[in-house]
Amino acid sequence: MKEWTREERYRVLKGPEDIRDLYERTQASPYRQAWHVQPITGLSSDPNGFALHKGTWHLCYQWCPWGAVHGLKYWYHVTSPDLVHWTNAGIGLAADRDYDNRGAHSGSAITRGEDLIFFYTGNHRDEDWTRTPYTCAAVLGEDNRPKKLDAPLFGPRDDHSEHQRDPKVVWNEQKQKFYILLGAQTLDRRGCVLVYESKEPLSGWTFAGELKVPGYEAFGGMWECPYIVNISGRDVLIFSPQYTKLPGRGESTNHNVYLIGHMDYDTLTFTPDGPYRHLDYGFDFYAAQGAAIEPAAYDPDRAILIAWIGLPDNHYPTADEDADWEGSLSLPRELRVKDGKLVQTPIPALESLRDKALAPDGTLPDACELAITAPDGDFEVSLFTREDGTGGMKLSYDAARRVCTVDRRGMANRFNQQVGEVLEIPLDAPLRTLRAFIDRSSTELFLNDGEATFTTHTYPTADEHHYAASAGVTVTGWTLKKAVTDEFVL
Ligand code: FRU
Repeated sequence: MKEWTREERYRVLKGPEDIRDLYERTQASPYRQAWHVQPITGLSSDPNGFALHKGTWHLCYQWCPWGAVHGLKYWYHVTSPDLVHWTNAGIGLAADRDYDNRGAHSGSAITRGEDLIFFYTGNHRDEDWTRTPYTCAAVLGEDNRPKKLDAPLFGPRDDHSEHQRDPKVVWNEQKQKFYILLGAQTLDRRGCVLVYESKEPLSGWTFAGELKVPGYEAFGGMWECPYIVNISGRDVLIFSPQYTKLPGRGESTNHNVYLIGHMDYDTLTFTPDGPYRHLDYGFDFYAAQGAAIEPAAYDPDRAILIAWIGLPDNHYPTADEDADWEGSLSLPRELRVKDGKLVQTPIPALESLRDKALAPDGTLPDACELAITAPDGDFEVSLFTREDGTGGMKLSYDAARRVCTVDRRGMANRFNQQVGEVLEIPLDAPLRTLRAFIDRSSTELFLNDGEATFTTHTYPTADEHHYAASAGVTVTGWTLKKAVTDEFVL
């Protein structure tokens, strides 16, 4: 993998000619996704500014144009009528102000009458590379391009570390106020959330306090991308704690977890009902963000969520291709609360991508959906095997322990071995159904109708396009149609 200098990583994009050739070379990759949002060049990471506004879905991703490296970040904007078919809309936010001179970092959106408003972190750095994060806003213009405010909404607090970012804006009907949740770190390096409030989205923001989460005062060193949503009367706090290992998660120090409980905006306390759970048990799932939904389409019993298929400290095989790119967003999922847990299912509109029924010969097309049902007891399914059934990514279910183990060591393209290549998915109910959503470089598993999910990048070679299953397991499915246009738009 290429070694990048700071100058190379933080180069400012002057115009399309800077990356047209890179774009052409990126298109040649066999791992370009057919129906997932992915970077036009370089690297995509967190989803940003996710919203349904005037019937159109808006979504941006953190984008570094130059290669599979975290450098100068832009928001790249895509839109969709249905959350399934995506069109490139061009750069949403560039790093073109003094207050965001070293990157337009992550943030969210709200829809407010005629306006779609984006909130993001202006990552300012001085000449000596000292960082000052600003909370900034931009309003979508008639030309479908966000227009930045002249000045940031507010700057950082000096009673916390320089890690203060990722504004998630929520409206609280009862208090008739907007709240910004900021991912942050205390001066003694503990992860936390800072809360700001205002009656107006674009002015009047004041600091309300640090969110209290009893039992989670020392849980990781930084909480990235916090988000609180009410689903069916319960509050759900979703965040991405860093700099800590968690039981059962291998050597990774980046996670995406949730708590269900009660959010009290008077005391700024989120009281969890029970222990944290992983939003997803896979190798690559991070910085998940829920969509802001315009009032006409709002459903109090569900949220729509999307995440980055990737982790901050990892790199992926496409980083070694000629075009040097990586990243993808996950498929959008619906979140519901059932029996004190989240139930996560792919949005139903994805069914519109189904094309031909899968051939019964065990071949695995490079974009497909599988419906797997299993008998009582232990079973095994291997995806991406060779024709003779060997190799691949193996899923083994241990009925006595109610655990499904995913082992990807059998695949030819191995990566991120340092964080581990085997992970377990603990289940409450016996595993009977599995849905697998496969694209050219990712696999997303939904177990027991959304009781647990598992997201991972997968890079099968040309001969790893088969599956094998133990006796009694049935596998049906469909090939999936292309749904991303992947055009060169800046
Ligand atoms: C999460 C994150 C955010 C930050 C962004 C920068 O992956 O580190 O906290 O805003 O990425 O790209």
